[in-house]
Amino acid sequence: MTAKIIDGKAIAQKLRERLKREVDDLKEKGITPGLAVILVGEDPASLTYVRNKRKACREIGIRSFLFSLPETVSEGELVRKIEELNGDEQVHGILVQLPLPSHVNPANILPRIHPMKDVDGFHPLNAGKLMAGEKTFIPCTPLGISVLLKEIGCRVEGKHAVVVGRSNIVGKPAGQLLLNMNATVTYCHSKTADLQKFTSMADILIVACGKPNLIGAGHVKEGAVVIDVGINRDESGRLTGDVNFEEVKEKAGFITPVPGGVGPMTITMLLSNTIQAAKQIHR
Ligand code: GUN
Repeated sequence: MTAKIIDGKAIAQKLRERLKREVDDLKEKGITPGLAVILVGEDPASLTYVRNKRKACREIGIRSFLFSLPETVSEGELVRKIEELNGDEQVHGILVQLPLPSHVNPANILPRIHPMKDVDGFHPLNAGKLMAGEKTFIPCTPLGISVLLKEIGCRVEGKHAVVVGRSNIVGKPAGQLLLNMNATVTYCHSKTADLQKFTSMADILIVACGKPNLIGAGHVKEGAVVIDVGINRDESGRLTGDVNFEEVKEKAGFITPVPGGVGPMTITMLLSNTIQAAKQIHR
């Protein structure tokens, strides 16, 4: 089987046009959605992500506010900035770009974001709501994956979803979201013995572990839906995922490319969550 390539860029573009209309409607009511981004230090990858997030906001009319803090910032200073933004009526969503420097513990920072402005869905209250199957802000990458699955007409109920990776940002919430959608979910991670045994049982395989080419054709069931969340750079500086695309595309039913698969959806879901935040705050 040769897989259908899931064009995340095109799907994201279509959704952004719809989101722009939602922003226009809000503006007519006197509400301009606003996203505050806090960036600590100058990690090159984070700088690129933040630039892309702000550009996407601008393109659909969301106001974005950037707060660049030095690498040496203290937890206290960071918390004070968050508290200021919690009280700022122009700010509907707050995002602290991760990773933070090693002297800053995210567990002391993320819970200080007001849960109604937590457009990343990383606040423990919102993470708990996702686990309980309640409506909440869902982390952007898992939410983007669920939208991609919907777009390709993949019915999740009753399917076996295997998630490779257990980060708080992607793996764990992706598994919980798929469970809420009535999939049977298996988590695999760096300590899993015989990874291939599990991945080759997957109807839906989500790979988010940051290891280039970890998943080859032998890991994949014929016709499976393969979602590659990995963003790695090869020796020549080109972006590659965690899945050996050339090999796996000959066996899967659907596959996301890197770049142009999950990435554009993640930012689109950030826009969507920010619009939801603005609607909820002004309800
Ligand atoms: N770093 C990598 N992915 C993310 C994300 O989705 N949100 C934030 N805040 N930081 C990240």
